[in-house]
Amino acid sequence: MLEIKGLQKSFGNLKVLKGIDISAKKGEVIAVIGPSGTGKSTLLRCINLLERPECGTVRIGDVTVDAQNYSAKDEQKLRRKTAMVFQNYCLFKNKTVLDNVLLPMTLVRKKDKKEACQEALKLIEQVGLLDKKHEYPSRLSGGQQQRIGIARALASQPEVILFDEPTSSLDPELVGGILELIKELAGRHQCTMLIVTHEMSFAMEIADRVIFMDGGNIIEQGTPKELMQHAKHERTQKFLKTIQTR
Ligand SMILES: Nc1ncnc2c1ncn2[C@@H]1O[C@H](COP(=O)(O)OP(=O)(O)OP(=O)(O)O)[C@@H](O)[C@H]1O
Ligand SMILES: [Mg+2]
Repeated sequence: MLEIKGLQKSFGNLKVLKGIDISAKKGEVIAVIGPSGTGKSTLLRCINLLERPECGTVRIGDVTVDAQNYSAKDEQKLRRKTAMVFQNYCLFKNKTVLDNVLLPMTLVRKKDKKEACQEALKLIEQVGLLDKKHEYPSRLSGGQQQRIGIARALASQPEVILFDEPTSSLDPELVGGILELIKELAGRHQCTMLIVTHEMSFAMEIADRVIFMDGGNIIEQGTPKELMQHAKHERTQKFLKTIQTR
């Protein structure tokens, strides 16, 4: 249901993605790991066309976009099938928690306001913040803001959720709660998840598959066990070793 073929992206002379192929089933949870600067965020941003890839195709469900030839309408169609959870939450600061979660429902899904409101409140409850529904993001902790970021992602009922290091801006004591929440969502296997993370034990625990990227390529992929215990490539072994000894 998510299929990426031959995705390439450069910034000026810097070739960041050198031909990425990923195919994921509905509900599959994929962790993307790899050294800094290797193109992980760029990959996520190319999947929902926040960055324009030079070539390759992205298919989500019944929408296929060819990087070399797509319209604004194709872009919108593909984007509506995805949601992104950002490192820095990226909530609308001038909107309350409730309005942040409502927005994808009324704007993207064109839902009736009353129905949308009930659904939004359910999502806010699910992430444990019903008592904050009328607060503005600036009055929430980082962990609370990220919970709302996740509720907002769910509000658009995406087929694919792209998480870009969802816990890396959080104080250490808040990380666990967010990881638990993502784990719970992953366990439901309702939508495909691509999670870029440096939290290796978390990745190993929740992912059906782990993809190791380096230098703009996928070097190796497999189940968490395959990668942890039997990584074939030296680069993967080296990376996992540095992470483990940190
Ligand atoms: N908008 C941009 N303009 C120019 N160069 C960019 C841009 N975005 C990313 N890059 C470059 O592309 C490369 C890959 O960046 P990217 O953010 O995808 O890496 P990453 O794997 O997510 O790293 P990290 O783990 O540090 O988040 C880097 O060399 C970066 O400097
Ligand atoms: Mg990144």
